[in-house]
Amino acid sequence: MYFRVFLLLTVFYTNGETLRILGLFEHAGKSHHWVFDPLLRKLAEKGHDVTVISFFPQKTKIPRFTDISLENLTYIGFEVWNLTRVQRTMMQTAVHLLELSAKRTCAAVLPSPQIKEFLKGNLTYDVILTELFNTNCFMYVAAKVNAPIIGLSSCAILPFWNELFANPDNPSYIPMMFMDYSDKLTFLERVENTLVLWYHKLYFELVMNPYTQKIVNENFPDHIDVSAVAKNVSLFLVNTHWSISRPRPFVPNVIEVGGLNLAEPESPPQVNLVDYY
Ligand SMILES: *[C@@H]1O[C@H](CO)[C@@H](O)[C@H](O)[C@H]1NC(C)=O
Ligand SMILES: *[C@@H]1O[C@H](CO)[C@@H](O)[C@H](O)[C@H]1NC(C)=O
Ligand SMILES: *[C@@H]1O[C@H](CO)[C@@H](O)[C@H](O)[C@H]1NC(C)=O
Ligand SMILES: *[C@@H]1O[C@H](CO)[C@@H](O)[C@H](O)[C@H]1NC(C)=O
Repeated sequence: MYFRVFLLLTVFYTNGETLRILGLFEHAGKSHHWVFDPLLRKLAEKGHDVTVISFFPQKTKIPRFTDISLENLTYIGFEVWNLTRVQRTMMQTAVHLLELSAKRTCAAVLPSPQIKEFLKGNLTYDVILTELFNTNCFMYVAAKVNAPIIGLSSCAILPFWNELFANPDNPSYIPMMFMDYSDKLTFLERVENTLVLWYHKLYFELVMNPYTQKIVNENFPDHIDVSAVAKNVSLFLVNTHWSISRPRPFVPNVIEVGGLNLAEPESPPQVNLVDYY
């Protein structure tokens, strides 16, 4: 895996060439941005021109980093859940919570002056980084920019996105994101895992995507099909790691980069070898 991440990073760092990078982050949850922000800042530090549309602009000015702030367009949701208090039915239907936040953000962001102004500007970018989370809303902006799209996930892959990459998500041994199972499931656990997976996928496809498309159509006359744009995403970087979330198969363009957001330790950890004898 590290070799692949290395290859990927060399794509960004080749020949000292400066890329124009656009970050599109629609979700108003700070915990998600904590994962993306270090990558975006690092790219600017390495000499690329980075423009980021998000709810979380930099607090202090960074060279080559341009923020387009969506701050105050909607409220910032709660950040921490006590999972022991969450009932099972809530996990089985978590897609409804995702829908709530997707709706209020998309409806607030797409008609905003920030997006209208941005789309009037120079849309020449080399690559787009965007979160694949609970909506295809920003795929409209991605389509107007028309550069290769890299998807990012700050958490395990939500059920809707595997389809885009033909990434395996067989519910007989891969627990869907909201199920607390291992890769060894009993028959009944498999039944539950399958039903919950299908419910999430169908709900996204039949209810959430049409809603997003309606918001897009209301705001822009060219009625670009945002779920078709999502099918063009070239690469998907996911903040999980097999050492924590168990091994599972991935297609080559879905890559686990768990820990990508962590800073390098300032000095290597001091290990006293005697402790190991
Ligand atoms: C958002 O609201 C806060 C508090 O009212 C204000 O300080 C901040 O400047 C606003 N941000 C933008 C981008 O309007
Ligand atoms: C989470 O909820 C459980 C059950 O109500 C409670 O025992 C625990 O203290 C809570 N944890 C936190 C960090 O609030
Ligand atoms: C848009 O930006 C690119 C990259 O900086 C530049 O090469 C191009 O000339 C600009 N186009 C316009 C119309 O300003
Ligand atoms: C997908 O990408 C191809 C190649 O860049 C482009 O021709 C096509 O219009 C894109 N499709 C959508 C729906 O954006």
